Amino acid sequence: MADFVGALDQGTTSTRFMVFDHSGAVVARHQLEHRQILPRPGWVEHDPAEIWENTRTVIQTALATAGLSTTDLQAIGITNQRETTVVWDPRTGHPLHNAIVWQDTRTDQITTALQHDSRGQMIRDRTGLPPATYFSAAKAQWILDNTPGARQAAQHGHALMGTIDTWLLWNLTGGPHGGVHLTDPTNASRTMLMDLHTLTWDPELLDIFTLPATMLPAIGPSTQPGGYGPTHPDTPLAHPTTASTGTGGGTAGGGGGGGVPVTAILGDQQAATVGQVCFAPGEAKNTYGTGNFLLLNTGHQPVTSHAGMLTTVCYQLAGQPPVYALEGSIAVTGSAVQWLRDQLGLITDAAHSETLARQAGDNGGIYFVPAFSGLFAPYWRADARGAIVGLSRHTTAAHLARATLEAICYQTRDVVEAMHHDSGVTLEVLKVDGGVTTNHLCMQLQADILGVPVSRPTITETTALGAAYAAGLATGLWHDTDELRTHWHQDHRWEPTWTPRQRDHAYTGWKKAVERTYGWID
Ligand code: G3P
Repeated sequence: MADFVGALDQGTTSTRFMVFDHSGAVVARHQLEHRQILPRPGWVEHDPAEIWENTRTVIQTALATAGLSTTDLQAIGITNQRETTVVWDPRTGHPLHNAIVWQDTRTDQITTALQHDSRGQMIRDRTGLPPATYFSAAKAQWILDNTPGARQAAQHGHALMGTIDTWLLWNLTGGPHGGVHLTDPTNASRTMLMDLHTLTWDPELLDIFTLPATMLPAIGPSTQPGGYGPTHPDTPLAHPTTASTGTGGGTAGGGGGGGVPVTAILGDQQAATVGQVCFAPGEAKNTYGTGNFLLLNTGHQPVTSHAGMLTTVCYQLAGQPPVYALEGSIAVTGSAVQWLRDQLGLITDAAHSETLARQAGDNGGIYFVPAFSGLFAPYWRADARGAIVGLSRHTTAAHLARATLEAICYQTRDVVEAMHHDSGVTLEVLKVDGGVTTNHLCMQLQADILGVPVSRPTITETTALGAAYAAGLATGLWHDTDELRTHWHQDHRWEPTWTPRQRDHAYTGWKKAVERTYGWID
């Protein structure tokens, strides 16, 4: 009897496969990094073929290392870096261009033009998103406009578009000979092409971005009890007998026939919200990855932001109406720590950022605003670039390490304030997860800078866990969301120690520093 569920977590820097048991404990895992392709300042690409190859490897290796077989898995859920856009030829399965990553700013001119005319408000109303380089539509437009033959191919039905979930599902269910071309509403809500109220592609938006409707995937719910489509025999999800005979991909029902069915798809931040069991309106989580993403469940009503938050789909379980969220997306947090390591050589690894920062008792009067991709929420300034202000002869590497950790926390305060403005919700505690939450100094600073306790659960792999939860809800491994709530346990809590005066003074300095970053790009 298959008792486990898998989660395929395709993130910005790596791809991992994890297997969970009924209690939510991890029983298998493997992870591989992929190349960050940086052809010009502001451009960030991934190779979709490398991502697919890594996907195959991590599934195979995780299962083999734990002595498991595909027959031990009831289902898997896909969760993914959102917005990153792939365009490929369905006849060959080959991408027409590298994937353009969510952090990439090459579509600046397209989105800035939209921001400043009447279409900007229409886009906000319909999609819940401000025109910005972050989202998929302009990335797909750029690929069609700048790749020889791509627009023609799209017009003849020879180009498909997808976010990474769609690319992986298409490959898992059919490979070069035509898989299932589908996405879920959490990913679709990040393209800037979906009407947030009807959960359908909007023809006017397709016109604005000059994209033929035939390129777009179907939109299905975030969970699909029978699976989204038959698993292809040449993939690592195929059951051993099916894989060896190479025939038949199974059916969409009954466990996927020849392989493990994909029964859930969620964008990674929405998956983390599920993994943190934020199922009720007013519940929020903050994930610290390459960027930070704070999501507040707002229930069945999309809440319009007037403070720079995004309105997004949180999840849509099969047969149920969608649940929405307000989101504060911060482009650069953990990746600022990576920058200290890779570009400046100031630290040897992420943990070193804590030991170095602890050598300085404070920030020495400096602020670092890591606006490498412009500023996302709540500012949405594509013209911003990074700045370190307040430097003096007194400044040391330790101060810069400390200012980097503080920047993560100040940016979070910016979005917490925006969220409060939009929703009226005052956080009593901030639920956190993600890699940076192992940094105790950073989490203490977060509690101090917010004036709110910070709480970390025992399982911090909430993104993968959320995808597994969704997949297992679809198969009936878990009965309902109440059952999942019983799995959540606090591992650590940080209480604020700063006085209100100290907090206000420090935050005023941060706001001044943010203003210094504007106007660096025409
Ligand atoms: O919106 C971008 C986000 O989904 C990326 O998340 O964890 O891959 O950096 P992560």
